[in-house]
Amino acid sequence: PEESGCDVDGSLTVGGVSVNELAEQYGTPLHIIDEAGLRRQARRFVDGLRERWPNSDVLFASKSLPIVGMYRLAQEEGLSIDVAGGGELKLALAAGVDPERLHFHGNAKTDAELQDALDAGIGVIIVDNEHELDRLERLLTRPQRLLLRVIPGVDAVTHASQATGGDDSKFGLPMDQALRAIERMRAHPLMDFEGVHLHIGSQILGTEQFAEAVEKLSTAGHFNTYDVGGGLGVKYTYSEQAPSVDEYLDAIVEAAKKHLPADAKLMIEPGRSLVARSGVTLYRVVTVKHTGRVFVAVDGGMADQLDIALTQQRYEAVLANRLTEPWTETVQLVGRQCESGDLLVDGAPLPAAKPGDLVAMPVTGAYAYTMANNYNGALRPAIVFVADGEARLVARRESYDDLLTLHEPAFAAELTHS
Ligand code: LLP
Repeated sequence: PEESGCDVDGSLTVGGVSVNELAEQYGTPLHIIDEAGLRRQARRFVDGLRERWPNSDVLFASKSLPIVGMYRLAQEEGLSIDVAGGGELKLALAAGVDPERLHFHGNAKTDAELQDALDAGIGVIIVDNEHELDRLERLLTRPQRLLLRVIPGVDAVTHASQATGGDDSKFGLPMDQALRAIERMRAHPLMDFEGVHLHIGSQILGTEQFAEAVEKLSTAGHFNTYDVGGGLGVKYTYSEQAPSVDEYLDAIVEAAKKHLPADAKLMIEPGRSLVARSGVTLYRVVTVKHTGRVFVAVDGGMADQLDIALTQQRYEAVLANRLTEPWTETVQLVGRQCESGDLLVDGAPLPAAKPGDLVAMPVTGAYAYTMANNYNGALRPAIVFVADGEARLVARRESYDDLLTLHEPAFAAELTHS
């Protein structure tokens, strides 16, 4: 992260706080968010888009970091918010987000979720399909702003499970069907159809595909609003290159100036590129093993960093308590879950690690906490914001008691008696 440095004792500091202290106080694995860096990145998006296209809105794609503290921060920084389901809606409302600023996504919104969103006074619903229109016809009692998600037929160059704009995407409607759905919305007295949305995929490392997406969006027709989705990639490893926020905004707005009505509202939905680089995950080394290779195993893994298994995302890592020592070996930095895909870094150059050392893995602010799970009985890590030399807990670590709460006590009792 940007607010990091090296303490006099050779250990990493984030937001002015030593990771030794953070590990001591909150335990590991721990997600650490550099709050000042995150706020700066939010302003790059909000101010950057507004300068280039004044009638604009930046939505925080909250699936990337759906924690109450983050919803609140996003609203403070002038972002609107995209929620993709009843759970994210609940968290956003609990954070005190103005419902008018909420945008509801999803390809399978249930009646109950739509009703909750309508009851909350949600700003915009992004309609995915005709069944959703059937539902809305039944549920709407007052005018509701709507966007429609279209399939642009843009094949994003990224991992197959992160590409969402190709012709065979499960999200949205192909152009011909979209036009029919738009007619239907325009004819309905309570449906306030505002425009179209697309999202071509995630972790996209070139800007041309976004320009292409804007052009495709314009072929749907003339509307008030065009929402280009998210997807800007970030640099995870030394060898990767990612466009800057400015390069990304330049590409989108240049295409918008060419293809969209000058008075239209332009929206984007960054998730990863907004939050990823402000996050560091802190682990403690449990075991070091020399077989043919050196395996350094930490106290977390794919349970708290699922994308290492889902998309084979790879990271860099440092020994956070021994930052100034030169690297002496190249290791397999692995987690503790029972799968070989539980590999955090494939060939990490590190000083000879010992049990008890701290490992920091940067660029883990997005899609880590949110996809954390209880695989192998793992506990979801705590997450802290750090700024100006102070740490604030924003979500506590799960406990073994939390693991048990969902289970019927009767069965636990039977087990202990048999
Ligand atoms: N808008 C929509 C409608 C989306 O579906 C997404 C992400 C975004 C915006 C934000 O995209 P971003 O700027 O974060 O790329 N779990 C996967 C990532 C899935 C992204 C899903 N949709 C991973 O760990 O790579």
